[in-house]
Amino acid sequence: MSERGISSAVIRRLPRYYRYLGELLENGEVRISSRELSIRMKVTASQIRQDLNNFGGFGQQGYGYNVRYLHDEIGKILGLDVQQTMIIIGAGNLGQALANYDFSKIGFNVIGIFDVNPRLEGLAVRGIEIQMIDTLEDFLRTNKVDVAALTVPKKNARAVATRLEDLGIKAIWNFAPIDLKVSDDVLVQNVHLAESLMNLSFNYRNRRKDKPSD
Ligand code: NAI
Repeated sequence: MSERGISSAVIRRLPRYYRYLGELLENGEVRISSRELSIRMKVTASQIRQDLNNFGGFGQQGYGYNVRYLHDEIGKILGLDVQQTMIIIGAGNLGQALANYDFSKIGFNVIGIFDVNPRLEGLAVRGIEIQMIDTLEDFLRTNKVDVAALTVPKKNARAVATRLEDLGIKAIWNFAPIDLKVSDDVLVQNVHLAESLMNLSFNYRNRRKDKPSD
């Protein structure tokens, strides 16, 4: 349960609603019924109504949902209506790939990239120069950072996370395949692309088994 009393299962589904509604907006759609939305999202209309009722509904009988309003309200719930800042620790393959992606579409601006490798110092990724990690303290004294993405090797991840916590970072987007040891005060969101691929592998293998052999 979140602080607002909303189940974590509902919260997990919100980014998907947000993404679909964003696509509808891009296509110039003004309103949508829960039935139409359910067909597009492949979830039941009652699930959609139940989910959105957690936030006061947003829908009107006989009209459906106003796409822009619903999109913006879900964005507010997800905290995407305010500009947030992110730094990336570890400017290797993954760190640079993240830095190259435009997260400003969802309100996140990458304002700093840090590494220990002097060969990377000064190299610009999307206009942001990679800095040496020993400048992090100074950087954090003058810049407000909301989220730190952690893309360092597994063996260094815990030490870096502790340092981030000591420096006042409260949210870590962790890509290193290790459980970080930080206090409850620090939110950690782990990302595991390999786990997602394993799920795909399972489904793929089982579907193949279900198919009669020819
Ligand atoms: P990489 O070796 O290309 O980059 C790691 C970078 O971290 C290097 O530039 C290195 O100099 C830097 N680094 C090392 N210690 C540091 C420290 N204490 N402070 C700052 N920078 C430091 O590795 P790659 O491929 O970018 O992977 C990075 C991490 O992400 C690894 O832990 C890897 O296992 C993980 N990973 C996770 C994925 C996921 O789905 N969660 C997918 C791919 C990688």
